[in-house]
Amino acid sequence: MTRYLSGIQPTGKPHLGNYFGAIKEHIECAKSAQPGEAFYFVADYHALTNPNVNSDELEQNIRAIAATYLALGLDPNRAVLFRQSDVPEVTELAWILATSTGMGLLERAHSYKDKVAKGMKPNVGLFTYPLLMAADILIYDPDIVPVGKDQIQHIEMTQDMVTYIDTRFGQQDESILKRPEWKLSQTPKVVGIDGEKMSSSYGNDIWIFESGKALKKRVNKIVTDSKAPEEAKNPDEVIPLQLLKLFVEDATYQEWATKVKSGGEGAPGYGHIKKALMDAMDTTFEDARLEYQRLMERDEGKRELDQILTDGGKKARSVAQSVLLRVMQRVGLGHVTQRLSS
Ligand code: ADP
Ligand code: TRP
Repeated sequence: MTRYLSGIQPTGKPHLGNYFGAIKEHIECAKSAQPGEAFYFVADYHALTNPNVNSDELEQNIRAIAATYLALGLDPNRAVLFRQSDVPEVTELAWILATSTGMGLLERAHSYKDKVAKGMKPNVGLFTYPLLMAADILIYDPDIVPVGKDQIQHIEMTQDMVTYIDTRFGQQDESILKRPEWKLSQTPKVVGIDGEKMSSSYGNDIWIFESGKALKKRVNKIVTDSKAPEEAKNPDEVIPLQLLKLFVEDATYQEWATKVKSGGEGAPGYGHIKKALMDAMDTTFEDARLEYQRLMERDEGKRELDQILTDGGKKARSVAQSVLLRVMQRVGLGHVTQRLSS
């Protein structure tokens, strides 16, 4: 039996990069797992490490992420969908991990260094982010953590922390915490409307559920040059075609690519490719968009969403409490049984 776990930060509206690079993979893992063996949480405590996070919008962003997963097909009867902050035991495990982890490990974190290099004034939470991330992985005993490339180092640090705890408190041949492995998604990099990696922080993203005029406006902003349709082009450099590729069968993509490459009469212009992209997005996400609106806007939908998150939190918390107990007993704080059972 394989257990999956991943976390998603509530940083606004999820975009196509999030979908093809993470969400789609997560939903597929949940389908292949046994019921109750896929854990996905909205990493709201992690979001607080960003000094620009808007606290008025945080609650809404948490709901938006959860509703997106459900609308796109995550079955809450098979997967455990919850909010990180509904499991306070995670912060307790993070503390225990902190007491066995050297400063050097955290100082080597790329993500921290990148953010500081970009001018972010770091708070202590940003520096200790990998400890909280390790805790929210290890506290559910998962086998596999599906993540994007940028997160691999965090998983490797998590693996290191399993060893640190064992070295300090373990007994031979028996690990206190389960060592997780990472799994990369099939689509490691989706390009944004400017051809760079799509990211909410670059302002080059397309929201998964964008539709109608707003979608048209966004797609029209996809950067293209001034070449005429008949001019031969490198398909890899035609940004709308790279996005269309994500939605269509490989054979269909090859037909488009061949025409673009050879140029001449009948070759598609940029407007033509953009229209095909809009149609593909519309068809692919039509049902999901309606379900998303129901969960976010209608009273019964909102209640249903809240209930799923609350139930998910309870299930996740009971797993977390048993793992925390196991750790606390091994570090010499076994009295915690009294608190956990009261
Ligand atoms: P953003 O860059 O918009 O803030 P996040 O860093 O929150 O996105 O990413 C959430 C998840 O989506 C991660 O697993 C990440 O690897 C994946 N992801 C984000 N952008 C892309 C992209 N352009 N292509 C592929 N995967 C992506
Ligand atoms: N750091 C991850 C990101 O920014 C989010 C995250 C938090 C996560 N905790 C996790 C991912 C645990 C996987 C497992 O995308």
